[in-house]
Amino acid sequence: LPEPGVTALTGPDVADRLPKPEPESNKYRRGVVGVVAGSDRFTGAAVLTVGGAVRAGAGLVRFASAAEPVRYVRARWPEAITTILAPGEGVSEVGRVQAWVLGPGMGTDDDAHALARSVLRSDVPVLVDADGLTLAARDPSLLRRDAPTLLTPHAGELGRLLDVPSGEIEARRLHYARRAAEELGVTVLLKGSTTLVAEEGRPVRVNLTGTPWLATGGTGDVLAGIAGAFLAGGLSCYDAASCAAYVHGLAARAAAGDPRTGEAPIAALDVALELPGALRA
Ligand code: APR
Ligand code: MG
Repeated sequence: LPEPGVTALTGPDVADRLPKPEPESNKYRRGVVGVVAGSDRFTGAAVLTVGGAVRAGAGLVRFASAAEPVRYVRARWPEAITTILAPGEGVSEVGRVQAWVLGPGMGTDDDAHALARSVLRSDVPVLVDADGLTLAARDPSLLRRDAPTLLTPHAGELGRLLDVPSGEIEARRLHYARRAAEELGVTVLLKGSTTLVAEEGRPVRVNLTGTPWLATGGTGDVLAGIAGAFLAGGLSCYDAASCAAYVHGLAARAAAGDPRTGEAPIAALDVALELPGALRA
């Protein structure tokens, strides 16, 4: 490990923490995750984020977005309960959830801003990714809230949040992940070739289960869905983020194949489809 104050989860650590159904469980107790993602322009982000949440074991996924992403999510994930939102409408009619995932492909216009505000006003944990992070960089007041917040930026997104060039973030990833967590009062999962999870007062957790084959469009959206399912299942932001990064990396490796017998490119949806196997392992 690179330095003191940095740790890694092992497979058994992750297995101990993962939400598992009790004999008496029902879907609501297992965890209802709300997903706000996608837009008429970006329907794929919605399908991938919901896919991550469904395949990571959410008890129920509630999906709320514009008509077009809802159409795609209904077709690909009939398990999700969907709500079509009018432009500018918030999530007050979506139903109770235990955690929200906000952002992938949602756009960054005024209607997206109003929607993000309505999600971040809630009193449950919120994971903010992608366009949600762009909105938060533009309007930091969005992140002033009492309930836990988990941000999942890549270096470019973290750079915008901190107003630091992304090259500088890449050069000092550990430093900036910690600094963002402290300054913003949130948990930060910083994506890239290694994934770091930072929270004030805790060691930074590094995840090395991934593969460079993950560097393909949409895999981050799947990761957001996985972490959202774990948050809804009752894990803290710190545990949800680090366990999600771990199983996301394992699922990606399973999708890419075995380095000894041959690896191949993966598509983001493959990572979601490999999740049950990765969770079993
Ligand atoms: N090795 C291992 N893992 C990697 C590597 C690498 N070399 N490169 C990327 N990854 C992993 C990251 O850690 C992360 O889990 O792949 C995933 C990529 O996630 P994102 O950067 O969020 O990419 P993507 O899913 O395509 O994002 C979709 O949202 O964040 C915006 O700008 C982004 O428009 C894009 C969209
Ligand atoms: Mg992304």
